[in-house]
Amino acid sequence: LVLVVDFGAQYAQLIARRVREARVYSEIVPHTMPVEEMLARNPAAIILSGGPSSVYEEGAPRLDAALFESTTPVFGICYGFMAMAQALGGTVAHTGQREYGRTVVSVMEPGKLLSGLPTSLTSWMSHGDEVVSAPEGFVVNAKSPRATVAAFENDDRRLAGVQWHPEVLHSEHGQRILESFLVDIAGCRQTWTSSNIVEEQIELIREQVGDARVISALSGGVDSAVSTALVQRAIGDQLTAVFVDHGLLREGEAEQVEKDYVEATGVDLKVVDAKDQFLGFLEGVSDPEQKRKIIGREFIRVFEAAEREVLATPGTPVKFLVQGTLYPDVVESGGGAGASNIKSHHNVGGLPEDLEFSLIEPLRTLFKDEVRDVGRQLGIPEAIVGRHPFPGPGLAIRIVGAVDAERLRILRAADAIVREETTAAGLDAEIWQFPVVLLADVRSVGVQGDGRTYGHPIVLRPVSSEDAMTADWSRLPYEVLERISTRITNEVDEVNRVVLDITSKPPGTIEWE
Ligand code: XMP
Repeated sequence: LVLVVDFGAQYAQLIARRVREARVYSEIVPHTMPVEEMLARNPAAIILSGGPSSVYEEGAPRLDAALFESTTPVFGICYGFMAMAQALGGTVAHTGQREYGRTVVSVMEPGKLLSGLPTSLTSWMSHGDEVVSAPEGFVVNAKSPRATVAAFENDDRRLAGVQWHPEVLHSEHGQRILESFLVDIAGCRQTWTSSNIVEEQIELIREQVGDARVISALSGGVDSAVSTALVQRAIGDQLTAVFVDHGLLREGEAEQVEKDYVEATGVDLKVVDAKDQFLGFLEGVSDPEQKRKIIGREFIRVFEAAEREVLATPGTPVKFLVQGTLYPDVVESGGGAGASNIKSHHNVGGLPEDLEFSLIEPLRTLFKDEVRDVGRQLGIPEAIVGRHPFPGPGLAIRIVGAVDAERLRILRAADAIVREETTAAGLDAEIWQFPVVLLADVRSVGVQGDGRTYGHPIVLRPVSSEDAMTADWSRLPYEVLERISTRITNEVDEVNRVVLDITSKPPGTIEWE
C-alpha cells in the first residue's frame, strides 16, 4: 500500500491512479490525518501531493516532520516537495515569481530517480516558491529556470522529490520517474492488478450477505453494470437487478442491457418499461432543471414500485442494495476507502431515505478505467464496458427544448451515426465523452437537392477530460467530422446543419443542459 497525502490540489487522484498503473496499490488520505495514523497503516511508501503554490501562503497545510523520523520512503511532488525540503532543513525562498505550465528541466545528476532519462525533460510546473538549497545529505538531481533545486533524492533514507508534476500527461517520462521512486528507491513490488479486487470482493460480499437477498439498479452505464455483475458472481440468484427503461437511452442501449448483459452475466433481471410514464411527465417541459427533477422523481417512484414487488416475493427478505460508487466519489465526499460518508450516486437518483438497506459498494476503491478492466474480466460485453459516461437523465438533457418521441428519434439517429463513425475511426479511447445535441427549438435554412429546407441543427460536443471536472474540446480529424456531417444531413431528414462545439470546460459544461 502506498498512501498519497492530499494537500488539497486536484492532482492527488491522478497520482493515485498513476501509482496503480505502476501496479502498486494506492489510496488517498487527507493531509489532516495524523502521521501516526498514516504509519499505523504500514505503507510501503508515502507520496506528498501538490497543493497551494507556496508554503508561505496563509493557511498553507504544514507537514509534520515526525514523518521523517520513521524509515518509510517518502516522495514529494510540487508543494509536497517544498514542504519536504522545509521540514528536512533545506531552504525554500519566497520568490513570488511563478513558474507555470510547460517548463524544461535540466538533469544535473540523474541518481536513481532520473536514471536513464534524457538530460532535458519537458515538464509541467506550477509553483510560486523555490527550493534554493536541498536538505543535508541530499543529491540535487535537476534544476529549472526558476527552481535552483527542481529534484532531489537521498537514497540511503529512501526520500526523494520533484518540483514538477510527473503525474500529468504533459510531463515527459513522468510515469517512469514515479516508478523509479516506487521500485528503485522505495523497493515496492509491482504485483497489484484490478483482478485481485475481483476475488477479494467476491469473498467479502458472500460474507456480508449470507443468505439474505439483494437488489440492484442497473442504469445502462458502466458502474452499475460492473458492480451488479460482481455481486451476481458472488451470490447468484439471491440478487435481483432492476432496470428502469425511461426511454431516454441511446439507440440499442436498452437492448444491450436486456439481452447481451443478461446473457453474459446470467443475472435475474427485472425490466420496467416506463417510457410512456417518463415521456408523459416531460411533455412540454423545456427547462433543464425541471427536466432533471421530473426524471429523478419518476425514477424513484418506478424503482420503489419495482422494489416493493421484489420485497413481496416470499422468502428471505431483501436487506442489501448494490451501488456503483467509485473511488473518486469516495474521495470527494471526504471518506477514506473504509469510511461510510458517501455522496448518493446521482445515476441511481436520490434513493429514498427511509430505505432499510445496507449498501454493497464493491467498486469503492476503484477508478473508472479499473472498473472497466474488472467488467471485462467478468465477461460483460465491450459495448457496455467501453461505454462513455452518460448522464442519468439521458437524451432528455441533450434535446434543447421540450422532449417528445419524434425529437428523441431524430437525436437517436444522429447519435448512432456519430458513435458508428468514431468507433470505426478508432477514436473511442481518446474521447472522454461525445454528447450529440439536438437544438429542437432552432431552425435554419438549407438547400438540399433542388429544394429549400428548414431544419434543425445537431451540435457535436466531443471532449477530452480526466475526470469531467474540467474538459477540452477534442481535435477530431477533419475527415471524421466530414463523414459524420455528411451522413447525418443525408440520413436524418429533419437535420440540415451540423455544428461543432469548440468550448472548453470551464466556461462551457460538457452537456448543454
Ligand atoms: P457537465 O455537463 O456538468 O457534466 O460538465 C459533467 C459530467 O456529468 C455528467 N452529467 C450527469 N450525470 N446525472 C448524471 O448522472 C446528471 O444529471 C448529469 N448531468 C451531467 C455529464 O455527462 C458529464 O460526464
